[in-house]
Amino acid sequence: MTNLVYIIDDDQSVREALDEWLTLAGFTVQAWASAEVALKNIDEAFSGAIVSDVKMPGMDGMELLEKIPRSIPLLLITGHGDISMAVSAMKKGAYDFIEKPFQPTRLVDAVKRACTQRKLYLENQHLKQVLEHQQGLESVLIGDSPAIKRLRQQIGELAQLDVDVLIQGDTGTGKELVARCLHDFGKRQKHPFVPINVAAIPEQLIESELFGHVAGAFTGAQKSQPGKFEFANKGTLFLDEIESMPMHFQVKVLRVLQEREVIRLGSHQSVSLNVRVISATKENLQQAAVDGRFRSDLYYRLMVAEIRIPALRERKEDIAPLFAHFLRQAAAKHNKETPEVSSEEWIILETHDWPGNVRELKNLAERYLLGREFQEVPLQEMLSGKIVLPEETGSSLNQRMADYEKAILKAELSRSKGNIFQVMEVLDLPRRTLNQKMQRYGLKREDFLNS
Ligand SMILES: Nc1ncnc2c1ncn2[C@@H]1O[C@H](COP(=O)(O)OP(=O)(O)OP(=O)(O)O)[C@@H](O)[C@H]1O
Ligand SMILES: [Mg+2]
Repeated sequence: MTNLVYIIDDDQSVREALDEWLTLAGFTVQAWASAEVALKNIDEAFSGAIVSDVKMPGMDGMELLEKIPRSIPLLLITGHGDISMAVSAMKKGAYDFIEKPFQPTRLVDAVKRACTQRKLYLENQHLKQVLEHQQGLESVLIGDSPAIKRLRQQIGELAQLDVDVLIQGDTGTGKELVARCLHDFGKRQKHPFVPINVAAIPEQLIESELFGHVAGAFTGAQKSQPGKFEFANKGTLFLDEIESMPMHFQVKVLRVLQEREVIRLGSHQSVSLNVRVISATKENLQQAAVDGRFRSDLYYRLMVAEIRIPALRERKEDIAPLFAHFLRQAAAKHNKETPEVSSEEWIILETHDWPGNVRELKNLAERYLLGREFQEVPLQEMLSGKIVLPEETGSSLNQRMADYEKAILKAELSRSKGNIFQVMEVLDLPRRTLNQKMQRYGLKREDFLNS
C-alpha cells in the first residue's frame, strides 16, 4: 500500500516515461493530467508520495503544494535554472525538487525516501491513535481483570476493522456499552449509532420498524418512512436481544445483511446501505441455532467477529474499581461527598454473586450513597433484599414490630427516592395508611427526595 506514487503532469509523454521508470522500480503508479483532478483523490489517509510538474495549465505544482495535507511528501519537477522557485517551494514544505533534465535513478531514490517517510508518519499516527483509544477506553470501560483488559484491546482492534460484531453476555454485563465503544472509537463515530431492542417491537411491526415503509403499505401508513437500517446509514445499527427475532423475519434480515440494501415495505426500489451491524444476545446463539430456534446462516453472518463478556462473578477483581467508579458517579450526580467503604463492606461486595452483574452493582452504589445519608440499611441487607433488625432484647413485641415496620418504610422510601406512589405499590398500601404510618414514625418524604 505505501509504495503508491501519484504522478501529475500535463505532458503525456512525460507521464508515460515517469510511470514506466517508477513501475519498473516496484512502485504502484497512478498518473494524472491535472492537479485539480488528482487533488480530489488525495486526503489525510493518502498512503504514498506525489511527484508533480510545477508548470501546468490550471492548478500548478505550487498551488497543489498549498492544498494537500502537509504530511504528504510532494516532489516537484522544476524547469532548468529555476532555483529561486525551488527554494521557495522547499520553504513552503515541498519534500524535494528535481531539476530537469534528470537521471531516472535520481527520481527513484528520492521517491523511495519520500515513501519511507510517509510510511513512518502513518505508522506513528496509527500508534498514537491506538494509544489514545486505549486511554479513552480505560476511562469508559472500567475494570482491571485480565478479561476486561483483553476486552478493551479487542474493542480497540475491532473498532478499526469495521466488521459486523456479535456481543454475547448475561444481563447487565455491559453489552450495550461495548457496542457504543465499538462505534465511538471507530471510523463511524461522527455518524449515528442507532440502537433497537428487537424484543420490544411487536412482531407485526418489526419489518416496518427496521426496513421502513411507503405510503399505503398498510392501513395507517400515511406517508413514506425510512426504517432503522436507513437511519443508521454511514453509522452503526445496534440490534439488541437479537435472539428474539421472529424466525420468518430472520431470513429477510439475512438478505439485507448480504446484499447491503433494503427495500421499504410496499416498495420495489432498494436503497443501498453502508451500515455496520452490531448485535447482542443474552443467549448462547450457537446453541439456539443447533436447537433450531435461530437460523444458523444468520448466526454466522452476524458473528463475523464475536465478543463474549464474562459475568461479574467470574471477574471479581473488577468489583472494587467498578463500585468505586459508580460511587463517585452517584456522588457527583447527587452533589454529595464520596463515602468511605469499610473493609467489611468490600468483603461483602466481593463475595456476592451478582446475578444482575454490573447493572446490579451500579444500582447498589447509588442506593448505598443515598442510604448513608439516612443511616440506612447495611450493605448486606441491601444485597439480600431483606430488612433485618439489629439483635434486640428487652422490648415488647409491639415495639419490635413497630421498629421493623419503620425500617421497611425507610428502606422503601430511600429506594424510591421519596416516590410515594412507588412505595404504595411495592408495599401494597393505600395512600392514607402510608401517610398515617409515616406520620407515626416521623418519616418525611422530603428527606428522601433526590437532590
Ligand atoms: N466495564 C464497565 N465499566 C463501566 N460501566 C459499565 C461496565 N459494564 C457495564 N457498565 C454499566 O452498567 C450498566 C449496564 O450495562 P449495559 O446496559 O451495557 O448492559 P447489557 O449487557 O446491555 O444489559 P442487558 O442484557 O440487561 O441489556 C450500564 O449503565 C453500563 O454503562
Ligand atoms: Mg442491553
